[in-house]
Amino acid sequence: MKSEQIRSTFLEFFNNKKHEIVASAPMVIKNDPTLMFTNAGMNQFKEYFLGNSTPKSDRVVDTQKCLRVSGKHNDLEEVGVDTYHHTMFEMLGNWSFGDYFKKEAIAWAWELLVDVYGMDKDSLYVTIFEGDASEGLERDTEAYDYWATLIDKDRILNGNKKDNFWEMGDQGPCGPCSEIHVDLRSDAEKAKVDGATLVNNDHPQVVEIWNLVFMQFNRMADGSLKTLPAQHVDTGMGFERLAMALQGKTSNYDTDVFQPLITEIETITGHPYGKKQEDDIAIRVISDHVRAVSFSIADGQLPSNTGAGYVIRRILRRAIRYGFTYLDKKEPFIYMLVQTLAHQMGDAFPELKSQKDLITNVIKEEEQSFLRTLDQGLILLDSMIASAKANSSNQIEGSKAFELYDTFGFPIDLTALILREKGMQLDEAGFDKAMQEQKNRSRAASATSSTDWTELRKDDTQEFVGYDRLEADVFITKYRMVSSKKEGDMYQLVFNMTPFYGESGGQTGDKGYLESASGDTVYIIDTKKENGQTVHLTKNLPKDLNGPHKAVVDLHQRQRSAANHTATHLLHQALRKILGTHVEQKGSMVRSASLRFDFSHFAKLSPEEITQIEQFVNARIAEHLELEENRSNTYEQAIKDGAIGLFGEKYGDVVRTIKFGASHELCGGTHVKNTADIWHFKIKSEGAVAAGIRRIEAITGDAVKEYFEQQSETLEEIKTALKSSSQDPVESVKSLQEENAALKKEIEQLLKDKAGNLKGDLIASATEVNGVNFISTSTDLDTKSIKDLAFEIDREMDNLFMILGSNADDKATLTVIISKNLVDEKQLNAGTIVRELGKHIQGGGGGQPHFATAGGKNPQGIAAALEAAKSYL
Ligand code: ALA
Repeated sequence: MKSEQIRSTFLEFFNNKKHEIVASAPMVIKNDPTLMFTNAGMNQFKEYFLGNSTPKSDRVVDTQKCLRVSGKHNDLEEVGVDTYHHTMFEMLGNWSFGDYFKKEAIAWAWELLVDVYGMDKDSLYVTIFEGDASEGLERDTEAYDYWATLIDKDRILNGNKKDNFWEMGDQGPCGPCSEIHVDLRSDAEKAKVDGATLVNNDHPQVVEIWNLVFMQFNRMADGSLKTLPAQHVDTGMGFERLAMALQGKTSNYDTDVFQPLITEIETITGHPYGKKQEDDIAIRVISDHVRAVSFSIADGQLPSNTGAGYVIRRILRRAIRYGFTYLDKKEPFIYMLVQTLAHQMGDAFPELKSQKDLITNVIKEEEQSFLRTLDQGLILLDSMIASAKANSSNQIEGSKAFELYDTFGFPIDLTALILREKGMQLDEAGFDKAMQEQKNRSRAASATSSTDWTELRKDDTQEFVGYDRLEADVFITKYRMVSSKKEGDMYQLVFNMTPFYGESGGQTGDKGYLESASGDTVYIIDTKKENGQTVHLTKNLPKDLNGPHKAVVDLHQRQRSAANHTATHLLHQALRKILGTHVEQKGSMVRSASLRFDFSHFAKLSPEEITQIEQFVNARIAEHLELEENRSNTYEQAIKDGAIGLFGEKYGDVVRTIKFGASHELCGGTHVKNTADIWHFKIKSEGAVAAGIRRIEAITGDAVKEYFEQQSETLEEIKTALKSSSQDPVESVKSLQEENAALKKEIEQLLKDKAGNLKGDLIASATEVNGVNFISTSTDLDTKSIKDLAFEIDREMDNLFMILGSNADDKATLTVIISKNLVDEKQLNAGTIVRELGKHIQGGGGGQPHFATAGGKNPQGIAAALEAAKSYL
C-alpha cells in the first residue's frame, strides 16, 4: 500500500464512522504562549477538552503535521541516529469530544489495523495503564477487558505512568492511555526472543505505532489531577511507522515517504545509502530535517535568531553540518531537495507546491550563510589549537569550545571531531558546564509560573463584543496569577463577555481599564488569546471580584490600531497590484504606533515603486471606502467569493471577511468604518528579512502628521543653517556642493604649486657634508605632500640625506629620507635615526632604512631635531 493510500484509508475509515475530516492545523503555533510547535494532534482541540468552547462536531479525524523538537516532547537527538524517530511527522488521529470512549476507540483501532490494513494479529501487542498509587490512580481494567475480547491475553501488557499516562505538558489535559506496538522482526528472531520483553525497550523493530489516550483529567499547577467535565478520546498514530509496518520494511526511511528524498541525496552527494553507518545517519538526518524546515517555512516560520525561528535554524544547521562532515558537501545542496519533496507530498499538502520557490531560496541562503560561519569557525578553531600547542597543551578549554558553539553556532560534535583528527582533546566537562550555566541563565530570565484558575462563575460563552462596542458591563468569570522574572506578578482575568481584542492575527491586544460599581479601577495593560479564551492582563487584582464591572477599551489606541490594520489590507492589495500576484503576506505586526508587513518578493523595491504603492493606498483612503463586513460566512464560501486567506493561519468553521472596495480578506482584526479614517499612509522603510522576503514599515493617521511635522521642522533648521535667502533649500544645497567641489580642486592645485616651488628651493639649499647632500628644513605642508616631495627629491638628487620637520594642529612630525646607496655604503638607517630624533619632539616613530617618519607632541623640539640630524653624517 502506497503511503498516500494509507493516509486516505485512515481518514475514510473514521469518516464512515461519522467523524468529520478536518485539515491539519499549522505546525507552527502562533497564538499559544505555552507551545511553539504542534507536538500532538490534540493541540488544536485543547480548548474542547478543557471545556473552554464547544466543537461543531463531536467526532473528528485528521492527519496532523507535528514537530517534536522542544519542550516536553523532544526527539531531536534521536533523529537520524535511529530509524523510527522524526522531527516532523504526521500523526493520524481520531477524536471523540465527550462522545464515545474506551470501548469504541479500542474496537475501531483493532478493526482498522487488522481487518482493513490487514496487519497480522500475532505481530501486535497492546499496553494498558497499570495504575499509580502516588497519583491515586487504579489499573485500567476497563481497557484491559475490552482488549481481552480482541487479542490474546498474553499480548496485553501493563505499562507504567511514564509510558501509559499521557500528558501534553506540565499542565493541561491528560489521561491513561493504551498503546499498540508492532513487532517487525523475522520469525527466527521472534522465536529467539519473546517480543513482549522488547515492548517499550527502544528496539528499532518493536515499536509503538498508535496511542489511544482516554482524556479524563486536567493536570493542575500544584501537580494534582482534576477530573475533566467530560471524557474524551485522543488518538495518535505515527504515519511513517504505520507505513513501515504496512510496506514490510524495518525502517521508516525505507518507506516511500523517505525513499525519493534519500535517492536524491545519494545522487547529489555521490554517497550511497546503506553502505556506511556514518553516511546513513547523515542521509537520514538530512531527509528528515528538510521536511521539518520546508513545512515550517510554508507555515510562515522562517529561520531566525529567536524563538520558533531559531529552533528551525538549528534544525537546518544540524542537517547542513551532517552533510558538511560526512557527505563532504561544502556547498549548499539541501535546497535542491525541496523540488523532490514538493513533488512527492504536494498533493496532500499543496502549500509545498505553491511555496516551493520561497522555501528553496530561504534554505539556500541559510546554507550559504552557515557554511561561511563554519569556515570562520574553522579558522578560529585553528588559532585555538595553535595557541594551545604553543602552551604545550593538547586540550582546548571547554569554555572556548562553548564560545565557538554559542557565537558561531559551531556544533560541539564537529569541534570534537576536528580536534580528534588533529590529535587534540576537548574539555567536555568544561563545555557541559558552560552550556549548563547559560541554560540556567536563560531559564531564570524567562521562567514563568502560573497558579490554577480560580473560577468565580460558570460561563463558557465569553462573547466578544469589541467589533461593535468599546465598553461593556461584564463579570469576572475566572482569574489566576502569573509570575515571571521579567514582568513580576500579574493577574489574568477572563470575563463573561469582553470588548477587548486579544492579540492575534498580527494585531496587538487592546489596553484599557476595568471599573467596579464603587469606582475602583484597575488598568488592563494587555489582552491575549489563550486556548480559545480572551485573557486580560492586570498588575492588580480588582477589589471586588464578584460584582459587575465596566470594561472600557482605550479608544485612541484602538483607533490607531484599526487604522493600521485596514492600511495593511490596502497595502497588501497595492503590492499585489503593483508588484504582481506572486506577492503573499508572510507576516504582519499591527500596533497602534505603526504597522509592519512582510511579503514574498524577489527584489528590492525601487523608489518609484514605493511612491506608487503609497499613492495607491492613499487613493483608496481618498475614495472614502466603507467597511463591508461579513461575520458568518463559511471558509469555503469566503474563498469562493474571492477573499484572500493566509496560509499557516488557523481558521474556524465560520469566518469573518473584511472588504474595502476591491480589497477582500479573511480577518479577525479590528478595522476602521471607512478608509477616510486612516487619513494618510506613509512608508517609512523597506528592506529584506530573508531570501525572497521583504518588509515594509509604515504609519498612518496621527503618526503621519507627527512625522510630517518633524520633517518640516528639520527642513526649517536646514534653511536656517544654510542662511540662504533662496526659498528653495535644494537649490542652496546643490550650489553649496558645487562651491565645495570647486574649492577642493583649487586647494589641491595650490598645494601642488607650493610643493613644486619648495622642491626647487630645497634642492638649491642642499649643503655637502662628508660627501652627502644634506637638506633640512621645516615646512607647514601636510604629511601626504611631504612624502610625495621627499620621494621626488630622492629621484632627482644622489647621495641625499634629507630631514623635514612640520607642525600641523600642534602635532609635530619628522620625515627622513636617505638615498639607497648611502644606506648600504654608510650604514645609515632612517628608521633608527628618526626614532632617536623623535625624542626631541616627545614622540616616536619608525619605518624603513630608506624612509621613515616620527610623530610627537612637542613642535618646539623640531628645530633641535633638525640640528641634531647633521651629527649622523
Ligand atoms: N496525544 C497522544 C500522543 O501524542 C495521542 O501520543
